[in-house]
Amino acid sequence: METRLIIVEEAESTQDLARDMAERGEPDGVAVMALHQTGGRGRYGRSWISPPGKNVALSLILRPALTPSEGVLLGLLSSIAAAAAIEDRGVPGVELRWPNDVMAQGRKIAGILLEARIHGPVLEYVIIGIGINVNTVSSDFPAELRPTVTSLLMCTGTEWDIEEIARSFLEQMEVLSRRVRSEGCGFIPGLWEHRWAHRGQTMRRDGIIGRAEGLDSDGALLLRTDDGRLLRITSGEPLPLGAYGPG
Ligand code: BTN
Repeated sequence: METRLIIVEEAESTQDLARDMAERGEPDGVAVMALHQTGGRGRYGRSWISPPGKNVALSLILRPALTPSEGVLLGLLSSIAAAAAIEDRGVPGVELRWPNDVMAQGRKIAGILLEARIHGPVLEYVIIGIGINVNTVSSDFPAELRPTVTSLLMCTGTEWDIEEIARSFLEQMEVLSRRVRSEGCGFIPGLWEHRWAHRGQTMRRDGIIGRAEGLDSDGALLLRTDDGRLLRITSGEPLPLGAYGPG
């Protein structure tokens, strides 16, 4: 896959722009980034804050030859790519939180929203939406989020060029997508686990509590309960016991 980056001044959500482009037939690898995203969307209907000119807000069209259930693994893949791009700038303590959050020193630095068009058994396209906090400072975020978020600037003390960070993420995606094309998706859960923040920790999702053992081959989170059962978690936001809420 080769990527092509289109930059627009302003968009309500780059997810909608990318979806319209995909519907019009734009190919695999086209990405759109907005310098100012006014109505960014996060997971579970949350909003995503992206002050003008400070953060990466980008959506990438992928048309992989995968099944819809394999498509879910592309969210994990994108978080691996984002973690590598962020770590390459000297950010310490970069880790992943299931399913797709990128953390630095325990705080969220990037989030991924995966939307797909599925027709029967066919995955027609996937839109990978990524927000990376680049030059934001604590006061750019609402007070309730401040304890749980960070940015490249906050972690390194340096301002970064958001286009350069976006291009670096896309380069990492190119490398990983080539690997998917040549060997399939089997390597993704293991590669993701290398950066996993919570392996072995006791985690809770809604009423379920268990020890985080690993990822299943389809990306599901495996929790071992006290009575020895292995449960598959496929949605929601499991957190370690005692952690802050979603951020
Ligand atoms: C999350 O909740 O962690 C996912 C956040 C995804 C935000 C990105 S910013 C670019 C793209 N456009 C959107 O409206 N959302 C995604």
